Amino acid sequence: MEGRFVINGIEKVLSFEPDATLLQALRDGGFSEVKRGCDTGECGACAVVLNGDLVTSCKVYAASVVGSEILTAKGLGTVQNPHPIQQAFVDAGAIQCGFCTPGMVMATYALLSKNPDPTDEEIRRALDGNKCRCTGYVKIFDAVRLAAERMRDHG
Ligand code: FES
Ligand code: FES
Repeated sequence: MEGRFVINGIEKVLSFEPDATLLQALRDGGFSEVKRGCDTGECGACAVVLNGDLVTSCKVYAASVVGSEILTAKGLGTVQNPHPIQQAFVDAGAIQCGFCTPGMVMATYALLSKNPDPTDEEIRRALDGNKCRCTGYVKIFDAVRLAAERMRDHG
């Protein structure tokens, strides 16, 4: 089957099996920045923003969200023109292998969109569903604080 979506601000038709997850449909459609980790909703690597809310795309059926607006890490910024959150992850040294990073960045985006000045506890809770095997999280939390500060300073 096919479904029309708005992905990163651009209309796109994805082809997928009726029982495909949004993660499968996105990856088959070329959105390889959405990472496939556990496939069970535990790791957060596949996180995207769906109609304004953070979701783990491996837990959503593509067919159930046809017509939706989806934002992935590539929709936030590019290597040449990174989003302040992406830049903060680089500057804080919060990226090692980078596998978890797109999901972490989307979780951070979802948090800061609703809460521009989160407490450490709120950051911890917002990133609770995102696992990283490399960094030990300290630098990731630094990156979120840095991104929040820069985004507040620059409106
Ligand atoms: S791949 Fe979706 S949460 Fe792990
Ligand atoms: S940087 Fe490697 S899993 Fe997070």
